[in-house]
Amino acid sequence: MSEQKQQWGSRLGVILAVAGSAVGLGNFLRFPGNAAQNGGGAFMIPYFIAFLVLGIPIGWAEWTMGRYGGRKGFHSAPAIMGLWGKGPFARYMGAFGVLIPIAVYFYYVIIESWCLCYAWNYLTGGIGVEPAGAVASQVATSKEFFADVTFSSQDGFLADGKIHQSVWFFLITSVINIFFVFRGLSKGIEKFCSYAMPAMAICALIVLVRVLTLPTDPAHPDQSVLAGLNFMWNPDFTKLSDPKTWLAAAGQIFFSLSVGFGVIINYASYMRRKDDVVLSGLTSSATNEFFEVALGGMITLTASVVFLGLAATQENTGGTFSTGFFALPVVFARMPAGNIFGAIWFFMLFLAAITSSLSMLQPTKAFVEEALGVSRAVGTAIVAGVALAGNVFVLWFSKGLVALDTIDFWVGTVMIFVVAGTQIVCFAWITGLDKGIKEAHEGAQIRIPGFIAFMMKWVSPAYLLVIFTMFCWSNMPGYWANLTWSEEQFRAAALEAGAAKNLSGAELDTFVATDVAGKLDAQPATRYSWALILGTIGLLMATTAVGAKRWKAQGRDIDGQFPPDDETKPNLA
Ligand code: ALA
Repeated sequence: MSEQKQQWGSRLGVILAVAGSAVGLGNFLRFPGNAAQNGGGAFMIPYFIAFLVLGIPIGWAEWTMGRYGGRKGFHSAPAIMGLWGKGPFARYMGAFGVLIPIAVYFYYVIIESWCLCYAWNYLTGGIGVEPAGAVASQVATSKEFFADVTFSSQDGFLADGKIHQSVWFFLITSVINIFFVFRGLSKGIEKFCSYAMPAMAICALIVLVRVLTLPTDPAHPDQSVLAGLNFMWNPDFTKLSDPKTWLAAAGQIFFSLSVGFGVIINYASYMRRKDDVVLSGLTSSATNEFFEVALGGMITLTASVVFLGLAATQENTGGTFSTGFFALPVVFARMPAGNIFGAIWFFMLFLAAITSSLSMLQPTKAFVEEALGVSRAVGTAIVAGVALAGNVFVLWFSKGLVALDTIDFWVGTVMIFVVAGTQIVCFAWITGLDKGIKEAHEGAQIRIPGFIAFMMKWVSPAYLLVIFTMFCWSNMPGYWANLTWSEEQFRAAALEAGAAKNLSGAELDTFVATDVAGKLDAQPATRYSWALILGTIGLLMATTAVGAKRWKAQGRDIDGQFPPDDETKPNLA
């Protein structure tokens, strides 16, 4: 079956597939980490505002754009954004809607394979964190295991001359992903999600019930389930004045919902004309929030507060995906029957991740097929080759997880803002809000409320602009420095930072030496990661140009010149 003729098997199927794409490591690892670092309850306020102002409106726009594109025979972000943005600029911006899924896949599938590796080690007793002992020493053992699985203490997954067990888990995970994507939309992705989503919910509920019924240790009355819930739900309003909290919340919403990611636009393009995008969009977003807040946050944060205490929770669960891997083994080691719950938890993470990573390969496959006119087998082979090259790169530059973090920051955060912004401008301004809403309402059982339509035009783009400007302002100088600075510049900055911490003498020397060595050590991998990102962008732009030429030669309206509801001039050749 050619890519053009693929369709979802059922309405529930598309909702499960989109929810499967949304629910992932972002829900279970990134969300609790972000919440812990940004004041727990305080994070929830900007988080829900971002959900309302960005997630829901831009999500609806993306669903609508995708379904319309599919009706015109297109399934890739460049082609569909070219229609809604009426021209080449939007089309080339659409190439970023392919970059995001494939480049996030470069590292995401590796984290996914760690989950499988952890689940296996829980079953076979290989984690090595002993139930007794101080938290600090347990965290240290857990970090050692993590470093062994992820090669984070040295570059190169073959550097010490032996094949680590995690390489096998990576290969197994890759093969499963490629297999289901090759099987196609309905028989592969939809079918897998229809089993994986309920299985995931059951596993997560089992762990949630276990966590919420944990007894309080009389020696530590402050480490109770209630203290954990209190941390998550009781806002510390002082944190709200910190722009970082707002940035983290917006970034989390996009990553978690897979909005502005290039996934929904592709998935929705396989819907039928009268399939409901409004209710489907709302249902999948609500499902994602249930998994993220009710399961991801309540499990990780509560369990962590109960066993590690508040301070260690903030110290060990914040930051990127990786930290959950060394905080949670300590939690499971201290929990009765922790090995079983650890295995269930990491297997659940694996399922959550795989339904997301499948959604990252599919848009690229669809793009390659429709831009180059190749068959499903060739499309899959090209995507598998590019994906594997990216995976090997991330696995190779594993020291300090520099490549993973660089791609996650620039592609998995910054570029999502850019794609989401372009989408909402194409929808509400270039094609026009009235036409967009009319298109969204085709076949819809509920209507987009007037205030959300207003937000689509005014509030979402403005909010996005403010957040993005703040984001660049607070992050870009540091990142630019890491990429370009010389040893002397790093030393001068470290001296200043050390002095600000009131360090002097030998303490200051050690601080400066460690800081400078760390920065210099990470610099080459950061630069190579940038070369990889730019190279992939170049490749996608070139493929977009080839595709545009091809579509034009077929007599198709690639610049959205026909009115959206004009069915008398079919867009297909
Ligand atoms: N939306 C996916 C996640 O949350 C990428 O992990």
